[in-house]
Amino acid sequence: MSKRLDRWLQAKKQGEKRVLVTAYDYAFAQLADQAGIDGILVGDSLGMVVQGHAHTLGVLLEQICYHTEMVARALQNALLFADLPLGSYEESPEQCWRSATALLRAGAEVIKWEGGLEFLEHLRFCAARGLNVCVHLGLTPQRLRQWGRFQRQGVDAKDASRLESEALTLAEAGARFLLLEAVPAALAERITRQSPIPVIGIGAGPHTDAQVLVLHDVLGLSDPPPPFAQSFVDGKGLLGAALRDYAHAVRAGTFPQRKQTP
Ligand code: KIV
Repeated sequence: MSKRLDRWLQAKKQGEKRVLVTAYDYAFAQLADQAGIDGILVGDSLGMVVQGHAHTLGVLLEQICYHTEMVARALQNALLFADLPLGSYEESPEQCWRSATALLRAGAEVIKWEGGLEFLEHLRFCAARGLNVCVHLGLTPQRLRQWGRFQRQGVDAKDASRLESEALTLAEAGARFLLLEAVPAALAERITRQSPIPVIGIGAGPHTDAQVLVLHDVLGLSDPPPPFAQSFVDGKGLLGAALRDYAHAVRAGTFPQRKQTP
């Protein structure tokens, strides 16, 4: 087991919170790594925040590999997670393993997919071959076509207890991480308390072992951020002002000056 992965497992044992953020390129991955973020996710959210689509459904495995390579080059400390996009893993355990190994070759250390017990055989097959799997449960954006809209999961008692037993079965079957999206805080807390593996939350309250957010939401570059996210800086305002200053300096003839003219 790598040192980076071991640090995550020790943190779970000691009750220390861990922090993840998405990143899609070298510059931002380096910034996050140097800021002490514990894990970077090359998420298929890149379909929305990088490619400009309204959903994640069109993202290709080759694209996640391409972004994973850039991010991997930047990391010194953070553990690198990467997403299997829609269509790259569902068919069979063998297809899942082939796609996962493409991401491993690109530099990923943990492979995440959306869905639980329907992929139990995939999990057993991949875990038996040493793959570190993160299972994404709750709101899984790749199911948008089936559901018709994004909606919170595990809200009624029956669905909550189904999710709880699903999560624990997956942990026992060899998953290394669980990720819970948009589920009630009390449910996420119950799962976290019982789970032997780290539970990462997004829109799942404060009690999970770790939190993850999309980079563009953290940096105030989304318009608007989802209700469960928080912007920690007005990125649009700050960066927009910098670009306006640059344009103004060129038009006013104050840039470039002698010192910028070799
Ligand atoms: O694709 C992604 O960025 C994700 C996170 C929002 C958890 O799956």
